[in-house]
Amino acid sequence: MILAIEDLTVSHGEKIIVDKVSLTIDKGEWFALVGQSGSGKTMLSQAVGQLLGPNLKASGRVMYEGDNVLEHPKEKMNQLRGKAISYIFQDYHGSFTPFLTIQQHMEEYLQTHSVQKAQRKEMIREALESVGLDASFAKRYSFQLSGGQLQRASIALALLLEPDILIADEATTALDSVSAHRILSLLQELQQKTGCAILFITHDWRHVVRYSDKIAVMKDGKIIESGTKQKLVHQPEHAYTKQLIQAAPTLPMRVMEVSKS
Ligand SMILES: Nc1ncnc2c1ncn2[C@@H]1O[C@H](COP(=O)(O)OP(=O)(O)O)[C@@H](O)[C@H]1O
Ligand SMILES: [Mg+2]
Repeated sequence: MILAIEDLTVSHGEKIIVDKVSLTIDKGEWFALVGQSGSGKTMLSQAVGQLLGPNLKASGRVMYEGDNVLEHPKEKMNQLRGKAISYIFQDYHGSFTPFLTIQQHMEEYLQTHSVQKAQRKEMIREALESVGLDASFAKRYSFQLSGGQLQRASIALALLLEPDILIADEATTALDSVSAHRILSLLQELQQKTGCAILFITHDWRHVVRYSDKIAVMKDGKIIESGTKQKLVHQPEHAYTKQLIQAAPTLPMRVMEVSKS
């Protein structure tokens, strides 16, 4: 097990947004968190990295390597982010400023994590290569990349330090389905190569079925059902899970067969 979330609650004043959620993620696992908009998926994932806004309060435990991450001071958390837990978002533009080249972004990131200068260049080259961008992209500014290239660069940035856990929050929601599958296949490939676990947050049941090992269904701040993909897809117990499956656009049988068991 790489991450254990125990009784995690996120509140905004009196309002409970995430309600005593517990789940465990194994090393190298693709864990899908699915549920309709507003169910608390983003708040849950942001609590894990201490990224919640100041008006929100998290309680409970997020256990990583024997410590409760929620109790880490800011400096310790900065060390953990990117190395232990990394994020990719739907708004990948937000990972870059127009004033720095891709290489400068990555350099800065590596410096924060005390990587020696001699190693940095090679790490950047490898990271870009792993997402299908050649080394010449390092010298470009974010506005000199197409949307798809920039999203690849944001994945390279998130995976630069080979994190144990990658949190992908609706990372492909804004993309058409061909581009979405291209990015998700790339993530799957990188996951197999680096052994990182992925907390995959989506409301698209088709992506859940195709890529995940385990699934948790969230509704109104609670996990209402969780288990292996086989179990959730073929023997859902909760009425809401059945409803999600039925509401999903037709699942091609071929996808069901080739997807991981
Ligand atoms: N910064 C915030 N302050 C207060 N409430 C928020 C904030 N962000 C989101 N919420 C509320 O928390 C609930 C869950 O939101 P969110 O986690 O974004 O849902 P999801 O990602 O599943 O769509 C929603 O009711 C939303 O309005
Ligand atoms: Mg969200």
